[in-house]
Amino acid sequence: MSAQYKEGRDEERMRWFQRARFGMVIHWGLYSLLGRGEWVMYVERIPAEEYSHLAEEFRPSRFDAKEWVLLAKQAGMKYIVLTTRHHDGFCLFDSKVSKFSSVAGAAGRDFVAEYVEACRNLDMRIGFYYSLLDWRFPGYHQGPEKNPESFSQMVEQAHAQLKELMSNYGKIDYLFYDGGWIPGIEQKEIAKYWRAKELNSMVRKLQPKIIINNRSGLPEDYDTPEQVVTPSPAGRTWESCMTIGDFCTWGYTRYNPNLKSVTQLIQYLVTAASGGGNYLLNIAPKPDGTVPERYGERLNEIGEWMRINGESIYGSERIPAGFGGSWGAGILGASTAKGNKVYLHIFRWPGETAVIPGIKNKVLSATLLKTGRKPKIEQTANGKVIIKGLPKEPPDKYDTVIMLELRGKPEPFNYEGIPL
Ligand code: GLC
Repeated sequence: MSAQYKEGRDEERMRWFQRARFGMVIHWGLYSLLGRGEWVMYVERIPAEEYSHLAEEFRPSRFDAKEWVLLAKQAGMKYIVLTTRHHDGFCLFDSKVSKFSSVAGAAGRDFVAEYVEACRNLDMRIGFYYSLLDWRFPGYHQGPEKNPESFSQMVEQAHAQLKELMSNYGKIDYLFYDGGWIPGIEQKEIAKYWRAKELNSMVRKLQPKIIINNRSGLPEDYDTPEQVVTPSPAGRTWESCMTIGDFCTWGYTRYNPNLKSVTQLIQYLVTAASGGGNYLLNIAPKPDGTVPERYGERLNEIGEWMRINGESIYGSERIPAGFGGSWGAGILGASTAKGNKVYLHIFRWPGETAVIPGIKNKVLSATLLKTGRKPKIEQTANGKVIIKGLPKEPPDKYDTVIMLELRGKPEPFNYEGIPL
Protein backbone atom coordinates (compact mmCIF):
# COMPACT_ATOMS: atom_id res chain seq x y z
CA MET A 1 0.00 0.00 0.00
CA SER A 2 1.47 3.35 -0.97
CA ALA A 3 1.88 5.69 1.94
CA GLN A 4 0.81 9.05 0.66
CA TYR A 5 -2.79 10.13 0.44
CA LYS A 6 -3.71 11.10 -3.09
CA GLU A 7 -6.67 13.30 -3.82
CA GLY A 8 -9.25 11.44 -5.81
CA ARG A 9 -8.07 8.02 -4.71
CA ASP A 10 -8.67 7.72 -0.99
CA GLU A 11 -11.64 10.03 -0.93
CA GLU A 12 -14.09 7.69 0.66
CA ARG A 13 -11.75 6.86 3.55
CA MET A 14 -10.81 10.51 4.12
CA ARG A 15 -14.24 12.03 3.69
CA TRP A 16 -15.38 12.20 7.32
CA PHE A 17 -12.10 13.84 8.30
CA GLN A 18 -12.21 16.42 5.55
CA ARG A 19 -15.73 17.36 6.58
CA ALA A 20 -15.12 17.35 10.33
CA ARG A 21 -13.01 20.53 10.49
CA PHE A 22 -13.03 20.63 14.30
CA GLY A 23 -11.58 18.10 16.73
CA MET A 24 -10.28 17.82 20.28
CA VAL A 25 -6.93 16.54 21.44
CA ILE A 26 -6.51 15.59 25.08
CA HIS A 27 -3.14 15.60 26.84
CA TRP A 28 -3.46 13.65 30.03
CA GLY A 29 -1.07 11.33 31.84
CA LEU A 30 1.30 11.07 34.81
CA TYR A 31 2.73 14.51 34.11
CA SER A 32 -0.71 15.96 34.89
CA LEU A 33 0.02 15.22 38.55
CA LEU A 34 2.88 17.72 38.58
CA GLY A 35 0.98 20.51 36.83
CA ARG A 36 3.94 21.83 34.86
CA GLY A 37 3.14 20.51 31.41
CA GLU A 38 3.83 17.22 29.66
CA TRP A 39 7.56 17.90 29.13
CA VAL A 40 8.29 18.17 32.86
CA MET A 41 10.27 14.91 33.08
CA TYR A 42 12.68 16.01 30.36
CA VAL A 43 12.92 19.70 31.20
CA GLU A 44 13.58 19.11 34.90
CA ARG A 45 15.79 16.09 34.14
CA ILE A 46 13.77 13.86 36.47
CA PRO A 47 15.41 10.42 36.45
CA ALA A 48 13.15 7.72 34.99
CA GLU A 49 13.21 5.73 38.23
CA GLU A 50 12.07 8.69 40.31
CA TYR A 51 9.42 9.67 37.75
CA SER A 52 8.06 6.12 37.64
CA HIS A 53 6.80 6.45 41.24
CA LEU A 54 4.15 8.85 40.01
CA ALA A 55 2.34 5.76 38.74
CA GLU A 56 1.68 4.88 42.39
CA GLU A 57 -0.08 8.23 42.88
CA PHE A 58 -2.08 8.30 39.67
CA ARG A 59 -5.59 7.41 40.80
CA PRO A 60 -7.90 9.73 38.88
CA SER A 61 -10.93 9.48 41.12
CA ARG A 62 -13.20 11.64 38.98
CA PHE A 63 -12.24 10.41 35.54
CA ASP A 64 -15.28 9.85 33.39
CA ALA A 65 -14.56 9.56 29.68
CA LYS A 66 -18.17 10.33 28.91
CA GLU A 67 -17.73 13.85 30.29
CA TRP A 68 -14.89 14.52 27.87
CA VAL A 69 -16.84 13.23 24.93
CA LEU A 70 -19.91 15.25 25.87
CA LEU A 71 -17.81 18.39 26.17
CA ALA A 72 -16.36 17.82 22.68
CA LYS A 73 -19.83 17.17 21.30
CA GLN A 74 -21.22 20.32 22.86
CA ALA A 75 -18.43 22.31 21.26
CA GLY A 76 -19.32 20.92 17.83
CA MET A 77 -16.18 18.80 17.57
CA LYS A 78 -16.38 15.69 15.39
CA TYR A 79 -13.46 13.64 16.67
CA ILE A 80 -11.22 13.25 19.70
CA VAL A 81 -7.58 12.31 20.00
CA LEU A 82 -6.26 10.98 23.29
CA THR A 83 -2.62 10.70 24.31
CA THR A 84 -2.50 6.94 24.75
CA ARG A 85 1.16 7.42 25.60
CA HIS A 86 3.28 10.56 25.66
CA HIS A 87 7.09 11.00 25.61
CA ASP A 88 7.40 9.79 29.23
CA GLY A 89 6.39 6.29 28.10
CA PHE A 90 3.47 5.95 30.52
CA CYS A 91 0.63 4.02 28.86
CA LEU A 92 -3.02 4.73 29.52
CA PHE A 93 -3.69 1.23 28.18
CA ASP A 94 -2.84 -2.34 28.99
CA SER A 95 0.46 -3.31 27.43
CA LYS A 96 2.08 -6.72 27.45
CA VAL A 97 5.46 -5.17 26.70
CA SER A 98 5.55 -2.53 29.46
CA LYS A 99 4.58 -2.46 33.10
CA PHE A 100 4.59 1.31 33.06
CA SER A 101 0.87 1.80 32.60
CA SER A 102 -2.31 2.91 34.30
CA VAL A 103 -3.39 -0.72 34.34
CA ALA A 104 -0.32 -1.98 36.21
CA GLY A 105 -0.12 1.18 38.36
CA ALA A 106 -2.29 2.38 41.24
CA ALA A 107 -5.22 3.30 39.01
CA GLY A 108 -5.67 -0.28 37.81
CA ARG A 109 -7.71 0.97 34.87
CA ASP A 110 -7.42 0.90 31.10
CA PHE A 111 -8.33 4.49 30.31
CA VAL A 112 -7.98 3.97 26.59
CA ALA A 113 -10.66 1.26 26.78
CA GLU A 114 -12.95 3.56 28.77
CA TYR A 115 -12.35 6.41 26.36
CA VAL A 116 -13.02 4.23 23.32
CA GLU A 117 -16.23 2.95 24.83
CA ALA A 118 -17.50 6.43 25.63
CA CYS A 119 -16.71 7.64 22.10
CA ARG A 120 -18.47 4.68 20.59
CA ASN A 121 -21.55 5.12 22.74
CA LEU A 122 -21.80 8.76 21.81
CA ASP A 123 -21.01 8.37 18.14
CA MET A 124 -17.71 10.23 18.26
CA ARG A 125 -14.81 9.44 15.92
CA ILE A 126 -11.88 7.90 17.79
CA GLY A 127 -8.28 9.09 17.54
CA PHE A 128 -5.12 7.87 19.24
CA TYR A 129 -2.05 9.99 19.85
CA TYR A 130 1.07 7.90 20.34
CA SER A 131 4.61 9.15 20.99
CA LEU A 132 7.20 7.07 19.19
CA LEU A 133 10.01 8.25 21.43
CA ASP A 134 10.22 7.20 25.07
CA TRP A 135 12.56 9.25 27.27
CA ARG A 136 13.17 6.30 29.58
CA PHE A 137 15.47 4.63 27.05
CA PRO A 138 19.08 5.83 27.32
CA GLY A 139 19.50 4.92 23.67
CA TYR A 140 16.99 7.57 22.71
CA HIS A 141 19.15 10.35 24.16
CA GLN A 142 22.44 8.83 23.05
CA GLY A 143 21.11 8.11 19.56
CA PRO A 144 20.93 4.97 17.45
CA GLU A 145 24.62 5.09 16.48
CA LYS A 146 26.01 5.28 20.03
CA ASN A 147 23.57 2.95 21.74
CA PRO A 148 21.91 0.83 19.08
CA GLU A 149 20.72 -1.82 21.50
CA SER A 150 18.67 0.46 23.73
CA PHE A 151 17.46 2.43 20.72
CA SER A 152 16.18 -0.66 18.98
CA GLN A 153 14.47 -1.87 22.17
CA MET A 154 12.55 1.39 22.15
CA VAL A 155 11.59 0.93 18.50
CA GLU A 156 10.50 -2.65 19.15
CA GLN A 157 8.35 -1.44 22.02
CA ALA A 158 6.68 1.15 19.79
CA HIS A 159 5.89 -1.45 17.12
CA ALA A 160 4.51 -3.87 19.71
CA GLN A 161 2.40 -1.22 21.45
CA LEU A 162 0.95 0.09 18.22
CA LYS A 163 0.01 -3.44 17.37
CA GLU A 164 -1.77 -3.68 20.72
CA LEU A 165 -3.54 -0.36 20.21
CA MET A 166 -4.62 -1.30 16.72
CA SER A 167 -5.77 -4.81 17.72
CA ASN A 168 -7.44 -4.52 21.11
CA TYR A 169 -9.92 -1.64 20.83
CA GLY A 170 -12.05 -2.27 17.75
CA LYS A 171 -12.19 0.25 14.95
CA ILE A 172 -9.89 3.25 15.35
CA ASP A 173 -10.41 6.17 13.00
CA TYR A 174 -7.24 8.17 13.33
CA LEU A 175 -3.62 7.94 14.45
CA PHE A 176 -1.49 10.91 15.49
CA TYR A 177 2.17 9.95 15.80
CA ASP A 178 4.36 12.31 17.70
CA GLY A 179 7.90 12.38 19.05
CA GLY A 180 9.48 11.15 15.84
CA TRP A 181 12.54 13.42 16.08
CA ILE A 182 15.79 11.73 17.06
CA PRO A 183 18.81 13.60 18.52
CA GLY A 184 21.62 13.82 15.99
CA ILE A 185 19.50 12.47 13.12
CA GLU A 186 18.17 14.60 10.30
CA GLN A 187 14.40 14.80 10.13
CA LYS A 188 14.35 13.34 6.62
CA GLU A 189 16.10 10.22 7.92
CA ILE A 190 13.86 9.40 10.88
CA ALA A 191 11.44 7.10 9.04
CA LYS A 192 14.25 4.62 8.58
CA TYR A 193 15.04 4.51 12.30
CA TRP A 194 11.41 4.03 13.34
CA ARG A 195 10.92 1.52 10.51
CA ALA A 196 7.94 3.67 9.70
CA LYS A 197 7.02 2.01 6.42
CA GLU A 198 6.70 -1.35 8.09
CA LEU A 199 4.93 0.21 11.07
CA ASN A 200 2.35 2.02 8.98
CA SER A 201 1.61 -0.95 6.79
CA MET A 202 1.00 -3.02 9.94
CA VAL A 203 -1.33 -0.29 11.24
CA ARG A 204 -3.21 -0.15 7.95
CA LYS A 205 -3.52 -3.89 7.78
CA LEU A 206 -5.16 -3.96 11.20
CA GLN A 207 -7.18 -0.78 10.59
CA PRO A 208 -7.80 -0.44 6.85
CA LYS A 209 -9.78 2.79 7.16
CA ILE A 210 -7.47 4.60 9.53
CA ILE A 211 -6.14 8.08 8.82
CA ILE A 212 -2.45 8.56 9.73
CA ASN A 213 -0.48 11.79 10.22
CA ASN A 214 2.93 12.74 8.87
CA ARG A 215 5.02 12.56 12.04
CA SER A 216 6.60 9.14 11.63
CA GLY A 217 8.78 10.67 8.93
CA LEU A 218 6.49 9.68 6.04
CA PRO A 219 3.83 11.99 4.58
CA GLU A 220 0.93 9.52 4.94
CA ASP A 221 -2.52 11.14 4.98
CA TYR A 222 -2.20 14.63 6.45
CA ASP A 223 0.10 17.40 7.63
CA THR A 224 0.20 18.67 11.21
CA PRO A 225 1.11 22.34 11.60
CA GLU A 226 1.49 23.05 15.31
CA GLN A 227 0.39 26.23 17.12
CA VAL A 228 -0.16 27.99 13.78
CA VAL A 229 -2.88 27.76 11.16
CA THR A 230 -0.96 27.38 7.92
CA PRO A 231 -2.57 25.62 4.96
CA SER A 232 -0.60 22.93 3.16
CA PRO A 233 -0.34 23.07 -0.62
CA ALA A 234 -3.63 22.40 -2.43
CA GLY A 235 -4.48 18.72 -2.67
CA ARG A 236 -2.88 17.87 0.66
CA THR A 237 -5.02 17.30 3.75
CA TRP A 238 -3.96 19.21 6.86
CA GLU A 239 -4.88 19.81 10.48
CA SER A 240 -3.55 22.52 12.80
CA CYS A 241 -3.23 21.55 16.43
CA MET A 242 -3.19 24.23 19.10
CA THR A 243 -3.29 24.80 22.85
CA ILE A 244 -5.79 27.09 24.56
CA GLY A 245 -3.04 28.38 26.86
CA ASP A 246 -0.34 30.69 25.65
CA PHE A 247 2.89 28.71 25.70
CA CYS A 248 3.45 25.33 24.14
CA THR A 249 2.35 23.35 27.17
CA TRP A 250 -0.22 20.73 26.28
CA GLY A 251 -0.49 18.91 29.61
CA TYR A 252 -2.15 20.33 32.73
CA THR A 253 -0.44 23.50 33.89
CA ARG A 254 -1.55 24.55 37.33
CA TYR A 255 -1.36 28.31 36.86
CA ASN A 256 -1.43 29.65 33.33
CA PRO A 257 -3.59 32.76 33.28
CA ASN A 258 -3.12 33.77 29.66
CA LEU A 259 -5.67 31.66 27.80
CA LYS A 260 -6.87 32.42 24.30
CA SER A 261 -10.26 34.08 24.18
CA VAL A 262 -13.34 32.58 22.56
CA THR A 263 -13.00 35.18 19.79
CA GLN A 264 -9.44 34.10 19.06
CA LEU A 265 -10.32 30.43 19.07
CA ILE A 266 -13.23 30.95 16.68
CA GLN A 267 -11.01 33.01 14.40
CA TYR A 268 -8.45 30.20 14.27
CA LEU A 269 -11.14 27.66 13.52
CA VAL A 270 -12.52 29.84 10.72
CA THR A 271 -9.05 30.41 9.30
CA ALA A 272 -8.45 26.66 9.18
CA ALA A 273 -11.83 26.02 7.54
CA SER A 274 -11.13 28.81 5.08
CA GLY A 275 -7.99 27.01 3.93
CA GLY A 276 -9.82 23.69 3.75
CA GLY A 277 -8.11 22.37 6.90
CA ASN A 278 -9.03 21.09 10.34
CA TYR A 279 -8.52 22.71 13.72
CA LEU A 280 -7.55 20.38 16.56
CA LEU A 281 -7.89 22.13 19.88
CA ASN A 282 -6.20 20.82 23.00
CA ILE A 283 -7.58 20.41 26.49
CA ALA A 284 -5.48 19.48 29.50
CA PRO A 285 -7.55 17.71 32.16
CA LYS A 286 -6.48 17.84 35.79
CA PRO A 287 -4.87 14.79 37.42
CA ASP A 288 -8.26 13.69 38.75
CA GLY A 289 -9.62 13.57 35.20
CA THR A 290 -11.84 16.64 35.31
CA VAL A 291 -11.51 19.44 32.79
CA PRO A 292 -10.59 22.87 34.19
CA GLU A 293 -13.62 25.12 34.11
CA ARG A 294 -11.97 27.79 32.03
CA TYR A 295 -11.57 25.33 29.15
CA GLY A 296 -15.12 24.07 29.54
CA GLU A 297 -16.55 27.59 29.42
CA ARG A 298 -14.71 28.40 26.21
CA LEU A 299 -15.71 25.17 24.51
CA ASN A 300 -19.34 25.68 25.43
CA GLU A 301 -19.32 29.19 23.99
CA ILE A 302 -17.77 27.91 20.77
CA GLY A 303 -20.48 25.25 20.71
CA GLU A 304 -23.19 27.90 20.95
CA TRP A 305 -21.63 29.70 18.02
CA MET A 306 -21.29 26.46 16.06
CA ARG A 307 -24.94 25.58 16.50
CA ILE A 308 -25.82 28.67 14.47
CA ASN A 309 -22.83 28.91 12.18
CA GLY A 310 -21.65 25.31 11.84
CA GLU A 311 -22.76 25.07 8.22
CA SER A 312 -20.03 27.60 7.38
CA ILE A 313 -17.38 25.30 8.91
CA TYR A 314 -18.26 21.62 8.35
CA GLY A 315 -17.30 20.41 4.91
CA SER A 316 -15.79 23.77 3.97
CA GLU A 317 -13.72 23.90 0.79
CA ARG A 318 -10.54 25.86 0.30
CA ILE A 319 -11.36 29.46 -0.61
CA PRO A 320 -9.78 30.32 -3.99
CA ALA A 321 -6.67 32.53 -3.79
CA GLY A 322 -7.55 36.19 -4.26
CA PHE A 323 -11.27 35.71 -3.67
CA GLY A 324 -12.73 38.67 -1.87
CA GLY A 325 -9.77 40.96 -2.65
CA SER A 326 -8.66 43.00 0.33
CA TRP A 327 -11.52 41.41 2.27
CA GLY A 328 -9.60 38.21 1.89
CA ALA A 329 -6.54 40.02 3.20
CA GLY A 330 -8.50 40.27 6.39
CA ILE A 331 -9.67 43.84 6.98
CA LEU A 332 -13.13 42.75 8.02
CA GLY A 333 -12.54 39.05 8.49
CA ALA A 334 -12.20 35.86 6.49
CA SER A 335 -14.43 33.71 4.34
CA THR A 336 -15.22 30.05 4.05
CA ALA A 337 -16.85 28.35 1.08
CA LYS A 338 -18.93 25.35 0.18
CA GLY A 339 -20.27 24.74 -3.31
CA ASN A 340 -21.85 27.98 -4.52
CA LYS A 341 -22.04 29.45 -1.03
CA VAL A 342 -19.56 31.80 0.55
CA TYR A 343 -19.68 32.62 4.23
CA LEU A 344 -18.33 36.02 5.18
CA HIS A 345 -17.08 35.85 8.75
CA ILE A 346 -17.10 39.41 9.97
CA PHE A 347 -14.64 39.65 12.83
CA ARG A 348 -14.38 43.45 12.67
CA TRP A 349 -17.88 44.74 12.22
CA PRO A 350 -18.05 47.78 9.87
CA GLY A 351 -21.47 49.11 10.94
CA GLU A 352 -24.45 49.46 8.61
CA THR A 353 -22.61 48.91 5.32
CA ALA A 354 -20.09 46.24 4.43
CA VAL A 355 -18.04 46.52 1.25
CA ILE A 356 -16.67 43.24 -0.03
CA PRO A 357 -14.41 43.60 -3.05
CA GLY A 358 -12.97 40.94 -5.29
CA ILE A 359 -16.03 38.84 -6.16
CA LYS A 360 -16.51 37.95 -9.80
CA ASN A 361 -19.69 35.88 -9.42
CA LYS A 362 -23.16 37.29 -9.50
CA VAL A 363 -24.42 37.29 -5.90
CA LEU A 364 -27.96 35.97 -5.69
CA SER A 365 -28.68 36.64 -2.01
CA ALA A 366 -27.19 37.45 1.37
CA THR A 367 -28.38 36.04 4.72
CA LEU A 368 -27.22 36.71 8.27
CA LEU A 369 -26.98 33.28 9.86
CA LYS A 370 -27.56 34.66 13.35
CA THR A 371 -30.87 36.39 12.65
CA GLY A 372 -32.00 34.96 9.31
CA ARG A 373 -32.32 38.51 7.97
CA LYS A 374 -31.57 39.11 4.31
CA PRO A 375 -29.86 42.47 3.87
CA LYS A 376 -29.91 44.30 0.53
CA ILE A 377 -27.00 43.86 -1.80
CA GLU A 378 -25.61 45.88 -4.67
CA GLN A 379 -22.89 44.79 -7.01
CA THR A 380 -20.59 47.09 -8.96
CA ALA A 381 -18.96 46.44 -12.32
CA ASN A 382 -15.57 46.30 -10.64
CA GLY A 383 -16.29 43.29 -8.46
CA LYS A 384 -17.60 44.91 -5.29
CA VAL A 385 -20.48 43.58 -3.29
CA ILE A 386 -22.04 46.22 -1.07
CA ILE A 387 -24.22 44.91 1.73
CA LYS A 388 -26.57 47.56 3.09
CA GLY A 389 -28.86 48.08 6.05
CA LEU A 390 -26.87 45.98 8.49
CA PRO A 391 -27.34 46.55 12.22
CA LYS A 392 -25.03 49.16 13.76
CA GLU A 393 -23.65 46.63 16.22
CA PRO A 394 -22.59 43.09 15.32
CA PRO A 395 -25.45 40.65 15.96
CA ASP A 396 -22.91 38.06 17.11
CA LYS A 397 -20.25 39.27 19.51
CA TYR A 398 -17.67 36.74 18.28
CA ASP A 399 -18.13 36.51 14.55
CA THR A 400 -21.22 37.39 12.54
CA VAL A 401 -21.57 35.25 9.46
CA ILE A 402 -23.20 36.51 6.26
CA MET A 403 -23.92 33.78 3.78
CA LEU A 404 -23.76 34.76 0.12
CA GLU A 405 -25.36 32.60 -2.48
CA LEU A 406 -23.43 32.90 -5.72
CA ARG A 407 -24.02 31.94 -9.23
CA GLY A 408 -21.44 29.17 -9.53
CA LYS A 409 -18.43 28.40 -7.37
CA PRO A 410 -16.53 31.40 -5.93
CA GLU A 411 -14.25 33.12 -8.39
CA PRO A 412 -11.97 36.06 -7.57
CA PHE A 413 -12.26 39.34 -9.42
CA ASN A 414 -8.85 40.30 -10.71
CA TYR A 415 -7.99 44.01 -10.21
CA GLU A 416 -4.66 43.88 -11.97
CA GLY A 417 -4.22 46.87 -14.26
CA ILE A 418 -7.52 48.49 -13.26
CA PRO A 419 -7.01 52.00 -11.87
CA LEU A 420 -8.79 53.02 -8.67
C1 GLC B 1 4.88 18.55 20.38
C2 GLC B 1 5.19 18.25 21.82
C3 GLC B 1 4.15 17.51 22.50
C4 GLC B 1 2.75 17.68 22.04
C5 GLC B 1 2.65 17.79 20.56
C6 GLC B 1 1.26 18.08 20.03
O1 GLC B 1 5.43 17.69 19.50
O2 GLC B 1 6.39 17.57 22.00
O3 GLC B 1 4.27 17.64 23.86
O4 GLC B 1 2.11 16.54 22.40
O5 GLC B 1 3.53 18.69 20.08
O6 GLC B 1 1.28 18.26 18.67
